[in-house]
Amino acid sequence: MGIGFKFIFATSLLLMHLGSCLGSSIGICYGRNADDLPTPDKASQLAQLHKIKYVRIYDSNIQVLKAFANTGIELMIGIPNSDLLPISQFQSNADTWLKNSILPYYPATKITYITVGAEVTEAPNNISAMVVPAMKNVFTALRKAGLQRRIKVSSTHSLGVLSRSYPPSAGAFNSSHASFLKPLLEFLAENQSPFMINLYPYYAYRDSQNKVSLDYALFESSSEVIDPNTGLLYTNMFDSQIDAIYFSLMALNFRTIKVMVTETGWPSKGSPKETAATPDNAQTYNTNLIRHVINNTGTPAKPGAELDVYIFSLFNENRKPGLESERNWGLFYPDQTSVYNIDFDGKGSVDITPGTNVTSSNGTWCIASSTASEDDLKNALDWACSSGNVDCSAVQPSQPCYEPDSLVSHASFAFNSYYQQNGATDIACGFGGSGVKTNKNPSYDKCLYMTAGSNRTAANNVHAKPSTSYSTHNEVPMWVFSWLLMISVLFF
Ligand SMILES: *[C@@H]1O[C@H](CO)[C@@H](O)[C@H](O)[C@H]1NC(C)=O
Ligand SMILES: *[C@@H]1O[C@H](CO)[C@@H](O)[C@H](O)[C@H]1NC(C)=O
Ligand SMILES: *[C@@H]1O[C@H](CO)[C@@H](O)[C@H](O)[C@H]1NC(C)=O
Ligand SMILES: *[C@@H]1O[C@H](CO)[C@@H](O)[C@H](O)[C@H]1NC(C)=O
Ligand SMILES: *[C@@H]1O[C@H](CO)[C@@H](O)[C@H](O)[C@H]1NC(C)=O
Ligand SMILES: *[C@@H]1O[C@H](CO)[C@@H](O)[C@H](O)[C@H]1NC(C)=O
Repeated sequence: MGIGFKFIFATSLLLMHLGSCLGSSIGICYGRNADDLPTPDKASQLAQLHKIKYVRIYDSNIQVLKAFANTGIELMIGIPNSDLLPISQFQSNADTWLKNSILPYYPATKITYITVGAEVTEAPNNISAMVVPAMKNVFTALRKAGLQRRIKVSSTHSLGVLSRSYPPSAGAFNSSHASFLKPLLEFLAENQSPFMINLYPYYAYRDSQNKVSLDYALFESSSEVIDPNTGLLYTNMFDSQIDAIYFSLMALNFRTIKVMVTETGWPSKGSPKETAATPDNAQTYNTNLIRHVINNTGTPAKPGAELDVYIFSLFNENRKPGLESERNWGLFYPDQTSVYNIDFDGKGSVDITPGTNVTSSNGTWCIASSTASEDDLKNALDWACSSGNVDCSAVQPSQPCYEPDSLVSHASFAFNSYYQQNGATDIACGFGGSGVKTNKNPSYDKCLYMTAGSNRTAANNVHAKPSTSYSTHNEVPMWVFSWLLMISVLFF
């Protein structure tokens, strides 16, 4: 039975792995409109830690390009709207941009897409006329470098390019944008580039709560919405919006262009009126989104179709103007702790890695108490990593579970390992009052973080020294003796 189970387990892991290579994929947008973000190097480490394989940035910042070099992460880079004019005007400007800003970092940094302009139909000053000439110049520059097949050129759009998105089969591009869209779509079809769309069911829900149910926007709906023209059943708004794009493309006879979702997500916080902007809803949306995409479900109009999706966004961005929600789309706070737990693999469980014992055998975990003092945590951590026989190498600098570099996170990792190794009993999570049991899975990949539900005040304020190595020669804290006493009472 054991071998059979292991075989099935290994096979399904393999299939999931292949699935993520051949099929749909999940990436993340790394917006940097903030003054408190970690350095690009740290952001790159964070992405690697969470096994993120696709990252979208909005420019071609050199520090960012360098930070993602040799990571295997595929990067989508951008030419901002403010740079469209020179690149659209002269081929030599596109050539120079490629030569100076991209080629020095390629292929160490694996750039796979260049977005030329972003949501130009929403931008002031009717800049859309510059997009296709700029795309063509960038494409020509790539071709001269022999890279036009490896790096795809496109441009991102908001759902505002459609004049109609419901029902999906009636989807249609706004004819006011026809003079811009027609050559754009011809370019995409000719070069097998995707149509890039930013989709926000959150806004659709927020702005018409009477018509749209929250469950439908969050992929939680049990009821179905039927497209009266096609009879197709929709269980979530995301699919409905994507199909509206497919039908709009088909209406113009562009049947080969693929759709790529270059932004979607849900804010974890908003102004008092934005009642749906909560961590729970954001977690629900993004978790369901990942499962939906990784599963290769496709959409009702394109069942099984591959769909690449970028979640917006890596960090909360404190300098974004507008409503409170604008600054709260991140999966992570600037200090790199999670706003809520999210599993990018869509597996909903954690891989068991030999040498660590993060996964719980019976649904409970042991983490550092948010109210424990720094000294108590430090002592308990040192004890667990020495006398407690916990292998703490994973939380040492540059090791997989070092980030977030906080005492609470490191202690939680050690406490949980100890707890799982010692029968997951209440006393194995004592640590002199510094440990608390939880039945909410705090683990992530093979690491363990202090995240949602933890006391952020403690997590933020208690930082381990960067070079901490948990020593083996600390004094044994008093509580260890009482613990040993209890053990001996139990066993002898
Ligand atoms: C934008 O400019 C183009 C070309 O200058 C023009 O054809 C088009 O109608 C304009 N679009 C809008 C929405 O004003
Ligand atoms: C189409 O686009 C024009 C120009 O941006 C806008 O004024 C108009 O309201 C749009 N039409 C629809 C139906 O969205
Ligand atoms: C995954 O795919 C299967 C088969 O296509 C489908 O029945 C199921 O609902 C999908 N699950 C999700 C979460 O989309
Ligand atoms: C992890 O836990 C299991 C079951 O509790 C135990 O058999 C195993 O030895 C532990 N592994 C390590 C490395 O401590
Ligand atoms: C699981 O939890 C129960 C109740 O907390 C505990 O008694 C038991 O020892 C735990 N460990 C295992 C391995 O079952
Ligand atoms: C977080 O810590 C503060 C101060 O120690 C405490 O008052 C509060 O109750 C804690 N919150 C939670 C959720 O543990």
